[in-house]
Amino acid sequence: MAHIRIPSADRVIDDADSIRRFLLPYGIHYDRWAVEGRIDRDATQEEILAAYAPEVEALKQRGGYITADVVNVTPDVPNLQEMLNKFNQEHRHAEDEVRFIVKGRGIFYIHPENGDAVFSIEVEEGDLINVPAGTKHWFDLCADRTIRAIRLFKEKAGWTPLYTGDAIASGYQPLCFGPNYIAAKGIQIEHAVSIAA
Ligand SMILES: [Fe+2]
Repeated sequence: MAHIRIPSADRVIDDADSIRRFLLPYGIHYDRWAVEGRIDRDATQEEILAAYAPEVEALKQRGGYITADVVNVTPDVPNLQEMLNKFNQEHRHAEDEVRFIVKGRGIFYIHPENGDAVFSIEVEEGDLINVPAGTKHWFDLCADRTIRAIRLFKEKAGWTPLYTGDAIASGYQPLCFGPNYIAAKGIQIEHAVSIAA
């Protein structure tokens, strides 16, 4: 299950209905697809795309997406930090950033245009999320530096980061709650896991 955190309000939202309601005004759609019992998290890209073909097809119809692939990031990926550095600065895309998480965890920060406070969306296995075209955001991995996700595109060039030049991201840690947070929920936020950007 995803977690939304609004750092300036010290607020966390962690149930699916509330997450959906919170995100909708920003044009962000949140959904859950089953992973457990549906697919081996380490299946091949083809197997993953085949397993979720009905859902992916429906999303393509709804959002006008043309292609789908599977991205697989592990701590062993060469030049991982350089890759992450492309996306952990505030940027926009010309098209939606659509992700369904099969394995691992990551954190999107959203910087609303309407002046609302910056908030983060931590996504994990089973979470489907879209960051709408033009939305100011940045992304980082959590401490396990692992994410496996289906991506949907209209055209891959649309996913090129268009940097805003704002250094705002440096003021926010890639603070992921994950299992440690759940264990400590309501007790000590200091138990959350963070990594250096
Ligand atoms: Fe992005």
